Amino acid sequence: LRRFFSEQAIGVGRIALIFFVNWAAILYINVKLGWISVVTIPLILWVSLWFFKRVTKAYEDYQAQEAVLSTTLQENLTGVRVVKAFARQDYEMQKFEKDNWLKYVKGKFLLLMHSLFWPLSDIVLGGQMLFGFVFAAFMTLNGEIRVGDFVAYTGLLVWLIFPIRNLGRVIVQASSGMVSYQRLMDVAKQAREDLDEGKIQPQGPVRGEIEFKNVSFIYSDGTKHVIKDVSFRVEPGQSIALLGSTGSGKTSLVNLLPRFHDFTDGEILLDGADLRDYPRKYLREQIGIVQQEPFLFSRSIRENILYGVGRSVTQDEIESAAKAAAVHDVIAAFPDGYNTVVGEKGVTLSGGQKQRVTIARTILKNPKILILDDSTSAVDTETEAAIRQALDDLMQNRTTFIIAHRIQSVMKADLILVLDKGQVVQHGTHEELVTQIGSMYRRVYDIQTRIDEELEREIMMKDERARMKDEW
Ligand SMILES: Nc1ncnc2c1ncn2[C@@H]1O[C@H](COP(=O)(O)OP(=O)(O)OP(=O)(O)O)[C@@H](O)[C@H]1O
Ligand SMILES: [Mg+2]
Repeated sequence: LRRFFSEQAIGVGRIALIFFVNWAAILYINVKLGWISVVTIPLILWVSLWFFKRVTKAYEDYQAQEAVLSTTLQENLTGVRVVKAFARQDYEMQKFEKDNWLKYVKGKFLLLMHSLFWPLSDIVLGGQMLFGFVFAAFMTLNGEIRVGDFVAYTGLLVWLIFPIRNLGRVIVQASSGMVSYQRLMDVAKQAREDLDEGKIQPQGPVRGEIEFKNVSFIYSDGTKHVIKDVSFRVEPGQSIALLGSTGSGKTSLVNLLPRFHDFTDGEILLDGADLRDYPRKYLREQIGIVQQEPFLFSRSIRENILYGVGRSVTQDEIESAAKAAAVHDVIAAFPDGYNTVVGEKGVTLSGGQKQRVTIARTILKNPKILILDDSTSAVDTETEAAIRQALDDLMQNRTTFIIAHRIQSVMKADLILVLDKGQVVQHGTHEELVTQIGSMYRRVYDIQTRIDEELEREIMMKDERARMKDEW
C-alpha cells in the first residue's frame, strides 16, 4: 500500500502531463493524425480494467490464503501440546502442506495475470504505433503533411504511447494497493468504544443496587437470544448467584454490567438509573471481575496484581491481597518473588494459580460490585476453602455476582437464579429452591450431595483401612 502511494499515485500525474503535452503537439501538426494516434486507447484502457478486476480478485484470494496459512501456523505453535497429545502431527503437517501449496498456486496465478498483461498491452500499443507511423507515412506521400512534420510525429508518438503503457501498469498494480487498502480500512473502521460518554457523570462510588427488567440480549453476530426476558433485583451489598448448565448465558449476563456488550431489550438499572447513561470507564472502575479464563500479561506478578488498581499501593498491601487470595506462598517460593515474570518469557503458572493472582488483583481494586465467574473451578477443594473464606470477606458490603457449578458455592447467596438457555427457570434462596422437588436446582443438588457423600464414604473407608493396617 505504501509502495502504491509513494510510487504509483504520483506517477499518474506525470503520465497525464506527458500524454497531454505530446497529444497537443500532434494535434497541432495535424488534427486527423492526432485522432488516429489515440484510436486504440479505449481498448487499452478496457484491457487494463479487465485485468484490474481479475488481479484484484486474485490478490484477494492470495491474501486470504496467506491469512489461513498464518492462522494454521500460529495455532499449531500455541497449541503444540494439544497436537502432540492427540498425536496429530502428521495431520497438522499435511494440513500445513496443503495450505502452503494453495498459497503457492494462488501466488502463481497472480503472477501469471501480471505477466499476461504486459505482452498483451505491448501488442496493442505496438500495433497502435505501427498504425500511426504507416498512416503518417501515407499522409506525407499524399502531401497532407510535410516531411518535417512526419519526423516530428515519429518522435512525439513514442512519447504518447509510453505514458499510456505506464498508465496500464498503474491500473493493474493499483488492484493490489486497493485490496491492501480495503483490508486496512476494515480494521480502521472498527468503531472505537466511547469510554467517557454518558448522561450521568457520577462522582463517588456506586451503591450497587441493580435491577434487571425483562432484559434480553443477542450477540451482534448471532441470531438467537442468549439472554431472554430476565428480571431480578439485588440490593446494595447482597449476593446473587447464577447457576446453570454450560452455555446457558451466565457469563454473557454478567458481561452486560460493565457494558462489554449492550443489552438489546428491556432495562438495566444501576442505583435507579439506566445503565447506558453511565460512562463505560466509570462502570469498569466500579466493577471488579474475576474472569472465568484468567489472563495474565507477560510481566511481573507484581505488575499483574497491580493491573488497573489505579492508586498507589504498598508492598504490604500487595502481599496481604495475595495472602487473602491464597497465592502468597506460591509467589514467595519463586526466587524472584513478586518480580517473577509470568507467561511466555517467564514461569508458567497453573490455571488455579493464575486465577488466584486475578483474585488478588480484584481484592486490591476494591470494587463496589464484584463478579466472580467460576472463580474456584480451577482449584482443589482445600485451596477452594481458603479462597472461599477470602471471597466471603471480600463480598462484605459489595454487590456480588457468583457464577458457580457447585451448589456449595451458591448456597449462601441472597438470591439464586437458575438459568436455562438464557432464561430464568427458577429463582429464590437455597432453602426455597431445594424444597421444589423435581426442579432443576433440586436435581443438581441431589446429584452433587450424592457425589459428595460417596467421596466422603470412600475417604472414610480408606482411613479405616489405613488404621486397621496400622493396628496389625
Ligand atoms: N462473544 C460471543 N459472540 C457470540 N456468541 C457468544 C459469545 N460468547 C458466548 N456466546 C454464546 O452465548 C451462549 C452463552 O454463552 P456463555 O458464555 O454466556 O455461557 P455460560 O453460561 O457462561 O457457560 P459456561 O458455564 O460454559 O461458562 C453460548 O451459546 C455461546 O455460544
Ligand atoms: Mg461462562
